[in-house]
Amino acid sequence: MAFETKTLLIFPLLLLAACYMQEFVYGKSQVPCLFIFGDSLSDSGNNNNLRTLSKVNYKPYGIDFPKGPTGRFSNGLTSIDILAQLLGFEDFIPPFANTMGSNILKGVNYASGSAGIRNETGKHLGADIDLGLQLQNHKTIIARISNMLGGVQQASRYLNQCLYYVNIGSNDYINNYFLPQFYSSSRVYNPTQYAQDLIDRLSQSIMTLHNAGARKMMLVGIGPIGCTPNAIATHGSCIQEPNAAALIFSSKLKSLVNRLNMKFTGSKFIFRDSTTDYYTSLKSFRVTNAACCRLVLNSLCALNQTPCGNRNEYMFWDGFHPTSAANKLTALRSYNSTNLDFVYPMNVQQLIQS
Ligand SMILES: *[C@@H]1O[C@H](CO)[C@@H](O)[C@H](O)[C@H]1NC(C)=O
Ligand SMILES: *[C@@H]1O[C@H](CO)[C@@H](O)[C@H](O)[C@H]1NC(C)=O
Repeated sequence: MAFETKTLLIFPLLLLAACYMQEFVYGKSQVPCLFIFGDSLSDSGNNNNLRTLSKVNYKPYGIDFPKGPTGRFSNGLTSIDILAQLLGFEDFIPPFANTMGSNILKGVNYASGSAGIRNETGKHLGADIDLGLQLQNHKTIIARISNMLGGVQQASRYLNQCLYYVNIGSNDYINNYFLPQFYSSSRVYNPTQYAQDLIDRLSQSIMTLHNAGARKMMLVGIGPIGCTPNAIATHGSCIQEPNAAALIFSSKLKSLVNRLNMKFTGSKFIFRDSTTDYYTSLKSFRVTNAACCRLVLNSLCALNQTPCGNRNEYMFWDGFHPTSAANKLTALRSYNSTNLDFVYPMNVQQLIQS
């Protein structure tokens, strides 16, 4: 009887182990797992149940997404959705807010609209999951993965193989530094000091991720935030000050990537230049200075209004966020561009093969 109980217990465990092994052997994705940290450019529904103005689980968002509105800040896929597809993931990486029924071994998306590197960023819009909280959520997921794989060491070996994507910082400018009526940061720091503060904090978060097993990481710079339809609608043309501030941040981030690659020889870090991305993509769209959908306060799409029909001709979907067509170009270049002005010092394909 005792023997029988044991066999019964062991058998399902073996079966479970065999299932996971199959994923390793037969899984189609080029990297077994993808963890996503960031803001509305990557959010896939984490804000839907938060008290915030920064959520978009309503039409016309998602008009080109199979399931309609999901909380993605675009008409269709985000650039990290498309990058995941290029990497061979068959399903979308599940948002942390809803991992029910999902295989968290393939990764989790922690990104949250209006979130920043600094924890006060974006809070005038309501709640968000700032980078610090996203890292805490990752800790929770790692504990679950350790349980699934049978220990911390097994989990650590597994987590070493994943790709980690960090695209955050725009809101620390758009929804903090350049809103002096709500935030004091521009009175405390000049743009160089502020960028350094953000990089110091981001660098600590990257250390935390590294300590939690991350070895292949993609860090994304900030694009020309003074050229969004929102900025152009209020100013008539691109606003130079935010663009200049974003450039300082991005150039410091690129230097950080250099330092990290020298310091951690067993790890690889890459940098994506969102400014080069923007200027390269400009040539591919007929409309680059206005949103495709009807806007409220020059920001998010108005509820239930019919957007432009020729969405592939628009670079921007709403006042801040690119169309799925623009995201596709960004994702493709990240994946296999050999232009070092775009992905440095290598592209995602090379990162995961190295
Ligand atoms: C925000 O971050 C600061 C440190 O920079 C910390 O002292 C404070 O407790 C944090 N606030 C919240 C609400 O997490
Ligand atoms: C990049 O990848 C895409 C998608 O797999 C492919 O169509 C394209 O030819 C590749 N480009 C280069 C330069 O390898």
